[in-house]
Amino acid sequence: MTEQRPGPTEWFPHPVGVGPWEQEFPNTPRPDDQHYDQQLLDEGDRRNVVDAYRYWTQAAIIADIDTRRHPLHIAIENFENDSNIGTVVRTANAFAVDTVHIVGRKRWNRRGAMVTDRYQHLMHHRTVSEVLTFARENNLTVVAVDNTPGSVPIETAELPERCLLLFGQEGPGVTEEAQRGATMTVSIAQFGSTRSINAGVAAGIAMHAWVRTHADLGRAW
Ligand SMILES: C[S@@+](CC[C@H](N)C(=O)[O-])C[C@H]1O[C@@H](n2cnc3c(N)ncnc32)[C@H](O)[C@@H]1O
Repeated sequence: MTEQRPGPTEWFPHPVGVGPWEQEFPNTPRPDDQHYDQQLLDEGDRRNVVDAYRYWTQAAIIADIDTRRHPLHIAIENFENDSNIGTVVRTANAFAVDTVHIVGRKRWNRRGAMVTDRYQHLMHHRTVSEVLTFARENNLTVVAVDNTPGSVPIETAELPERCLLLFGQEGPGVTEEAQRGATMTVSIAQFGSTRSINAGVAAGIAMHAWVRTHADLGRAW
């Protein structure tokens, strides 16, 4: 297994998962397929992964998700060090998003990702213009997500299939440059007193709106 510093789900013994192979499957020969990680077979697998990936190497898991990633990309602006990026990455992983794009500062707080970032393609762009160029070159329609004037309700909007959803940060929200570069801006309907919801929550709602329209639900776990 690749040497990596323990992440939040590995700081304490994890209650889910499986023990060593011989203990779990006493009369079954060890699998010798390359998918399997000898150290996990020896010691057990308590990682935050679905049961279908138990004892698999990290590389094998990434390769398997790569065969069925969605044409959905997520970008989040990080000019002021947003603490929601970990949540966004974890949700993107759950929905087999192609790539999460961090725009602005490269550093972000990985804690909320709960080690899911190991299985998620991530890309850094220094500027909004760079991520817009990436979208154009990869035939992705950019949809900004914010509740700013002129935005259209996500509840009734049709999100494009090849789509890059772009989120802003606490405080400033999506930059003007990003909104100008986007084909449209969509908003999530609110009914209470707060001006906005948490960016990580907004990203989850928007990703799920895409899933409801475009994902093959028969392939969900
Ligand atoms: C906490 S908001 C801050 C900006 C917000 N426009 C304001 O005026 O307070 C941070 C980000 O979360 C997302 N967001 C929060 N609430 C939203 C909503 N109701 N609709 C769409 N996006 C939202 C957007 O991407 C936004 O840029």
